[in-house]
Amino acid sequence: MKILITGGAGFIASHIADAYIEAGHEVSIIDDLSTGKKTNINPKARFFEGNIAEKSFVEQVLASQEFDIVNHHAAQIDVRKSVTDPAGDAIINIVGSLNLFEAARKASVKHIIFASTGGAIYGEQDYFPADEEHPTRPESPYGTSKRAVELYLGFYKAVYGLNHTIVRYSNVYGPRQDPHGEAGVVAIFCNALIDGRQVYIYGDGTQTRDYVYVGDLVRAHLAIINHLDTSTTYNIATGIETDVSTLYGVLSNILTNGNTVPQAPQYAEARLGEQQRSVCDASKAKKELGWEPKTSLEIGLRQTAEYFQKLSS
Ligand SMILES: NC(=O)c1ccc[n+]([C@@H]2O[C@H](COP(=O)([O-])OP(=O)(O)OC[C@H]3O[C@@H](n4cnc5c(N)ncnc54)[C@H](O)[C@@H]3O)[C@@H](O)[C@H]2O)c1
Repeated sequence: MKILITGGAGFIASHIADAYIEAGHEVSIIDDLSTGKKTNINPKARFFEGNIAEKSFVEQVLASQEFDIVNHHAAQIDVRKSVTDPAGDAIINIVGSLNLFEAARKASVKHIIFASTGGAIYGEQDYFPADEEHPTRPESPYGTSKRAVELYLGFYKAVYGLNHTIVRYSNVYGPRQDPHGEAGVVAIFCNALIDGRQVYIYGDGTQTRDYVYVGDLVRAHLAIINHLDTSTTYNIATGIETDVSTLYGVLSNILTNGNTVPQAPQYAEARLGEQQRSVCDASKAKKELGWEPKTSLEIGLRQTAEYFQKLSS
């Protein structure tokens, strides 16, 4: 298939692009390299450098070939930045997405895959883990813009018959991760531990997240492109809650080979509006896609730590 991936120079989508290419698909990438890196771009992909907020650029790319699928990952991913500049977030995350969907439906694209968020869309949860039916109460402009785009996809389905798969990730971690994103804490801890810098944990360290390894998420995307006959939403997550102090403990143990006592983290004042617990249920993906996470936190963190160690040496 001909697949256009936005954000394909970034952490998650570059891994998906690699896997699509490995599976024999023809891949094109849009990225403005704002956080993505040229070195992440698979040399077998066609690369269009530009900003999805620029309508004419997006139209040109979509008109250049007959894409079967648009897999949309390009986004402003910094939750705190979305709080300080909600309009800036919306221009990329909402207007940019609409530019893409308009150009896609005009170019007769068959299916949109959208990278949404389980970590920032459900808000403080009513029950644990949250399935796809859990009420959505995003607490940040970032989560709100992701939810808005999900709703716009409903419009494109209803009016133009353009199918979509919404993929709500919990906190994704792994090699190539940018330390500024939703689950940037793994990259931040890795870099600080490798450089011997002080690690700060905001709050008392009991806040939990659901950490899913990027390699597992890539397998979900390979399954999704074999299930394109409908429009639906999947959580992609582990269903396991890990608190931030435990995460730090596992990582510091890996990075010191369990030999030396790592520097204790310093606890700093909790950040306003930070969610206390977040964990998602991916039973629907298991039932319908045959997908489930396979990488334990220990193994995934080990592979991530090795990547950052190589990068710093
Ligand atoms: N990392 C996570 O835990 C997580 C969780 C839930 C959802 N997501 C979503 O997954 C997607 C990928 O996230 P990531 O963690 O790989 O982040 P990333 O920053 O590594 O990737 C985003 C990519 O989009 C590009 N980009 C940003 N703005 C652009 C624009 N205006 N035009 C063109 N390209 C632009 C960046 O250069 C980058 O390569 C995002 O949509 C994000 O919201 C990530």
